[in-house]
Amino acid sequence: MPKVLVSDPVDQAGLDILSQVAQVDVQTGLSEEELVRIIPEYDALMIRSGTRVTRAVIEAGTQLKIIGRAGVGVDNVDVPAATRQGVVVVNSPEGNTIAAAEHAVAMMLSLSRHVPDANQSVKSGKWDRKSFMGVEVYKKTLGVVGLGKIGSHVATIARAMGMKLLAYDPFISSERAEQLGCRLVELDFLLREADYITLHIPKTPETTHLINAETLATMKPTVRIVNCARGGIIDEAAIAAAINEGRIGGAALDVFENEPLEEDSVLRAVGKDLVLTPHLGASTAEAQVNVAIDVAEQIRDVLLGLPARSAVNIPGLYPDVLEKLRPYLQLAETLGTLVSQLAGGRIESLTIRLQGELAAMESKPITIASLKGLLSQALRERVNYVNASIEAKERGIRVVETRDDSVRDYAGSLRLIAKGSLGEHSVTGTLLGDGEIRITTIDDFPINVPPSRHMLLTLHRDMPGIIGKIGSLLGSFNVNIASMQVGRKIVRGDAVMVLSIDDPLPDGILSEITKVPGIRDAHTVTL
Ligand code: NAD
Ligand code: MLT
Repeated sequence: MPKVLVSDPVDQAGLDILSQVAQVDVQTGLSEEELVRIIPEYDALMIRSGTRVTRAVIEAGTQLKIIGRAGVGVDNVDVPAATRQGVVVVNSPEGNTIAAAEHAVAMMLSLSRHVPDANQSVKSGKWDRKSFMGVEVYKKTLGVVGLGKIGSHVATIARAMGMKLLAYDPFISSERAEQLGCRLVELDFLLREADYITLHIPKTPETTHLINAETLATMKPTVRIVNCARGGIIDEAAIAAAINEGRIGGAALDVFENEPLEEDSVLRAVGKDLVLTPHLGASTAEAQVNVAIDVAEQIRDVLLGLPARSAVNIPGLYPDVLEKLRPYLQLAETLGTLVSQLAGGRIESLTIRLQGELAAMESKPITIASLKGLLSQALRERVNYVNASIEAKERGIRVVETRDDSVRDYAGSLRLIAKGSLGEHSVTGTLLGDGEIRITTIDDFPINVPPSRHMLLTLHRDMPGIIGKIGSLLGSFNVNIASMQVGRKIVRGDAVMVLSIDDPLPDGILSEITKVPGIRDAHTVTL
């Protein structure tokens, strides 16, 4: 009988499902060393946010087939290490949507009516009605940052409470926003005009410290900010100072840069107009049952040799089909991630062209993998092989599949063309004999580079000295270049330069690069 280790507290409903097919051991509070020691005997691992599933744990799990995260965020799992080892990682992308949305609304109302402080006051024996004068949300403007699952539900509730709605989400069409009663606007407009701001975005390099001293200074002095998304989207020191100095109306935070929140955090010292909860967004009885059942069913299915429905790393295909397709799916996902970062902004259409030998293959899984890569910038771990097509449709992305078996520069190649609000970009890639991915064109410029985690891509005029200038500029920012390649169509025309770098590009350097004479465009890419 297979064995499942459950290393965080999960609802009994999930344990009951697992017990139908496996021996279930619940052992919570394990250190990494303890986990590494016991994991070799387990076929599956079920966690919430408490367990950190590091590369060492995954590599020690020689029998592991699946890691199930009862919740959304898989930031506590080394997903690339799991993928490399063929371990499926599943989550529950929707099980706690309602819980998190209702918590955001509860936080907004608690802050407006001083519920936590008033409660504290009464319990301490006082009857103070003067200190807790509140404000109404009715007819106030709510700015929703991130109009995905949770943001959409918050918008629906807020609309019913008579609020006016603004939304910022660069990956959503204005039609979708209008359906929800929201006016889609630019971020700076939302920050300036909103009486309330609620954040429902993933934490990415672009959203880290989105709310900082500078953006706070552009807001109304009465604005109230709610964060039930992810810690780190708000600069905690900046918001604490803004509240203390009366530059904003207040904030309600469920998530923090470091969790548990440090004992000496500046936030704990803010006297009033700040409501804090310890990451309770998903903590409802209903959500915990939903996520436990959702993930336990997927673990059960995988242990029975069936596909998982919400795999974040490996699609829900039968193992034999998967084995054949896996290299092409990785190629498609990599190219999708790459082209979305080149295109930036909102994507309107994606053309997927199967070329050469690939033209004879089943296109659907390749299309889905391409879309998963394309959407991963916006949705992170919430996009998977099951929902990628639906998410693309909801975002108004037109998908076109074409085939061309006459292209013979490689045995088989895949070309993606993304058209977006900022222009059109294309990439082509192929697989070498050993299954290694090669990117063979970028915007029609011929190159031959393996994808790497961090890359810098430039479009520039092919002229002497330009490569040296970029190299010195990167050197002055202590950026180490692992490899570099230039592709051009004609001598002294335009060219692309692809640099693999060891670490993400530090802030500010991209704008310096675009100032170098001859550079027409520059993009950072993270794969
Ligand atoms: P979702 O993927 O359905 O929606 C996220 C939305 O953010 C998408 O529409 C995407 O287009 C948009 N987006 C991405 N980058 C953006 C950017 N730079 N600017 C503006 N919009 C951007 O996710 P969801 O289910 O709505 O979850 C939202 C957040 O809530 C996530 O961070 C999730 O991890 C978090 N969450 C927290 C709790 C909790 O316990 N507090 C519970 C569940 C989810
Ligand atoms: C999630 O990612 O599902 C939420 O943040 C809640 C949790 O961590 O359980």
